[in-house]
Amino acid sequence: MTALPNPFPNSMPKGYQALVDEPVFEPARHLALEAPAHIWTLADFGYGGDVIAATPSRVAAAGPFRLLSDEGVAAVQAVCRALREARRMEEGQRTSSYVPGAVYRSRFLRDLTNSPEIAIFLSEIAGTRLLPHSMPSQQVYINYAPDDLSKAVDNWHVDSIGFDYVLMASDPATLNGGRFEFFRGTMEHAADLLGTQVSELTEGFADDLPAELVETIHFPGPGYALFQQGHLVLHRATRLFEVAERITLVPGYVTADQSGDDPTKVERITTWGEPGILAELARHAAWQSGVKLESLIEQLPIADDPEVIVASLRNATADIDRLIASLEEKT
Ligand SMILES: [Fe+2]
Repeated sequence: MTALPNPFPNSMPKGYQALVDEPVFEPARHLALEAPAHIWTLADFGYGGDVIAATPSRVAAAGPFRLLSDEGVAAVQAVCRALREARRMEEGQRTSSYVPGAVYRSRFLRDLTNSPEIAIFLSEIAGTRLLPHSMPSQQVYINYAPDDLSKAVDNWHVDSIGFDYVLMASDPATLNGGRFEFFRGTMEHAADLLGTQVSELTEGFADDLPAELVETIHFPGPGYALFQQGHLVLHRATRLFEVAERITLVPGYVTADQSGDDPTKVERITTWGEPGILAELARHAAWQSGVKLESLIEQLPIADDPEVIVASLRNATADIDRLIASLEEKT
């Protein structure tokens, strides 16, 4: 049950303005893909067979690895600075710590995050075929350090999507603080230490965790990244001690293998309020169900067994039913 990428929408959500005068993405010039320095498996984190069996990749995290060439770094930095400035103008001069909808605003970032070269590279690391996320809003977030130095760049959390990488776009050598860290343990263990439930780990926790279970990623330079199954890896970016430019990109991915449960936290995402995100969720559910319906057409035995038929149809349309239930609850 493997899928092709969900096509990009034909229209753009209201409220976003596309950048003009940006570089044109060229993989041969802008990418410099190199193998990750380290790979941590789900078993290394202490996950058991049930969790490992439920996801098509046994990798929890991998990195750091080089992703952008020097020219790619310069282009990404220029686009991210222009987008931050545009967002500042939208918000009436207030600074913002992230830019949503970046693939609608920047053709360069859309082409970068939809690059087949990167998807193939990450698929080799993950050991399963990965595709750019089926929701364009999840194909990349750009995060900037908050101007308030007392605040963490990002508190401990797990992601609402299955797979992503964190790309250090600015120069990490200029940072005092602003470390990227992950907890090398299970979500149950993290929830226990933080005094919460696993289902709450998306929310962000400012507490410290035992140093011996925390891995700090030392990015060797701008353009290096860490890949993770973000829904199973608790991570954070610590506060800066001095004002500095800290820009990270977080491009999201889905697995082409649609036989397992969807790690996308659909119910949570319905509350985010970004322009067009409910239609994106509908396209995501339709894409998943489409893959499952095609598989049903190929594989359903030609036999008159109502129980098997109902179970097969229910399984194929479960993603759509789940979204309908969630949206009906909101209205
Ligand atoms: Fe995250």
